[in-house]
Amino acid sequence: MKTAIYPGSFDPVTNGHLDIIKRASKMFDKLVVVVLINPLKNYSFSIPERVGLLSKACGDIPNIEIDSYDGLLADYFKEHPEIDVIVKGLRATSDFEYEFQMAHTNKDLNPRAETVFIPASANTTFISSSMVKQVAMFGGDLTKYVPPEIHEQISAKLTAEFAEKKRMARLRAEQ
Ligand code: COA
Repeated sequence: MKTAIYPGSFDPVTNGHLDIIKRASKMFDKLVVVVLINPLKNYSFSIPERVGLLSKACGDIPNIEIDSYDGLLADYFKEHPEIDVIVKGLRATSDFEYEFQMAHTNKDLNPRAETVFIPASANTTFISSSMVKQVAMFGGDLTKYVPPEIHEQISAKLTAEFAEKKRMARLRAEQ
């Protein structure tokens, strides 16, 4: 039995991630999708929210497990000897340098941690979580970018976040 892990921030999960998840789930017996932390990022969704959105988006894929972890990916890999390989998606050459560095760091931290790359499908190469967040904050149509089960939750959260940001900016300007 071959098991892969697909790590990411998923803030929020998009159709781009889902493309990789669906294709990887057909290549491996089991795919563990894990929400991790990139300490350099400011997240809009909490870890339980990101796990919840992933669960809704992946509901119909049978061989998927969703988890979260607040440490190094290499350590998660150590704690789960049943996982064979890390899967990452590559959208463009611009992703390559960062992913290459990450793959080498993970292997350096844990020599068992091999990474395989899946090229993103052409129609998802321009999608990113930040782009989705920006469209949602301005009340734009998310239909093409995130699965239908989670449109509403994403829009509600981000329009509220944006309204609060505008309120704070107004208060600062008045002081
Ligand atoms: N299609 C569309 N978009 C995609 C995509 C795909 N196939 N794959 C990734 N993306 C987007 C994401 O939406 C995200 O967009 P954003 O930057 O606008 O938020 C961007 O590409 C990067 O996503 P991701 O691969 O999740 O990278 P990340 O930097 O957000 O997170 C972690 C990377 C969380 C996996 C990494 O930081 C990690 O492993 N953290 C744990 C600590 C650790 O071990 N660090 C590594 C050692 S230094």
